Amino acid sequence: MTTYLQDKDDIKYNEMLKKKIAKLKKKRNAVIITHNYQRDEVQEIADISGDSLALAQAAVRTDADVIVFCGVHFMAESASILNPGKTVLLPVVEAGCPLADMVTPEKLRAAKKHHPDAAIVCYVNTSAEVKAESDIACTSSNAVEVVKSLKEKKIIFVPDKNLGRYVQSQVKNKEIILWEGFCPTHIRVQEEDVIRTKKLHHAAEFIAHPECNPEVLALADHICSTGGMFTYVKQSDSKEFIIGTESGMLYKLQKENPEKSFYLPTQNLVCANMKLITLGWVAHSLEKMVYEVKVAPDVRERALKTLEKMLRVTGEKKSAAISGY
Ligand code: 13P
Repeated sequence: MTTYLQDKDDIKYNEMLKKKIAKLKKKRNAVIITHNYQRDEVQEIADISGDSLALAQAAVRTDADVIVFCGVHFMAESASILNPGKTVLLPVVEAGCPLADMVTPEKLRAAKKHHPDAAIVCYVNTSAEVKAESDIACTSSNAVEVVKSLKEKKIIFVPDKNLGRYVQSQVKNKEIILWEGFCPTHIRVQEEDVIRTKKLHHAAEFIAHPECNPEVLALADHICSTGGMFTYVKQSDSKEFIIGTESGMLYKLQKENPEKSFYLPTQNLVCANMKLITLGWVAHSLEKMVYEVKVAPDVRERALKTLEKMLRVTGEKKSAAISGY
C-alpha cells in the first residue's frame, strides 16, 4: 500500500486535520468527492470516490451546497458544468492535467475543418472550451460504448491517442482519427516493466488502464477504467494483480481486498498533479471557500450538451465501483 506518512507526528497532524475537515464540512453542507488517484489520507475522508464517470454522475446527484473536488481541474470543471447551482471547490488551483492541455479549441476547430464529416469525441480529460467544440464526451469506462452509439463513420478522438487506439481495436466499422496526446504518467509503464513484474509474480493477472501504450496493453489480461479495476479484482479468482495505472489505486484495492496482493509494474506511476491535494489544502479550501471553479455561461451551455449526451449513452447505469453512495 502506498503511504505518504513519515512518522507519528504526521499521523497526529492528519487526525487533527480530519477532525477540522469534518466540522467545516458540516458547517458548509459540503460533500467531498475524490478520484481514485488521490493520496491515501485524502481518499480516507471521501464521501464519494470513484473513476471519472462515477464522479461526474455523483456531481449531478448531490444535494450538498458545496462540492470539494479532490482531483484535477477538468474534473472539478465538469462538476461545475453539470451542477452550476453548487459551489465547486478545487483545493489546489494548480492541480491540472497535462493530457487535457494537449488539445486546444483552436486546434480542434482546425481539425474539424479538415474532416467536416467527422464527429468529435472528447475524453473528459479536456477543458470546458474543448468540450464546447465537441459532439460528445467519454470517459475510459464508456469510450467504446460512446463511439458505437454515433451514426457517423468517422470520429476525431481527442486528446489521448492510446485510448483512441484502444477504442479503434474494439470498434471495427468506424475510422478513428487519433490526436497526438498522451498521459505522461501512464506512458511511463514499459513492456519490460510488465514482463519483469510477471516473472516475479507468475500467477498475477495484469490489469491495464487504456491510457497505457499499445505494447503494454497487448500484455494485459484485462483493460478497463480505474473503477472497472475494482469490479474485476472482486470477481476474479486470482490472488495477485499487477496494476497498470497510477499508484493511488492501490489504497482502495488493498482495503477492499485484504486477502489479495497488488503490485505496480514500476514505482514511478505517480501523477504529481493528483498528489498536490493534501488534507491541509482540503481544510484550507473549506475554511476560505477556495478555489471556486466556474465556467463562462456561453461555454458552459455548449459543454453541458456534450457531457449530457455522454451521460444519456451511459444511462442510469452506475459506474463501476463507486463508493460512498
Ligand atoms: P478513470 O476515469 O479511469 O478514473 O481515469 C481518469 C484519468 O484521468 C486517467 O488518467
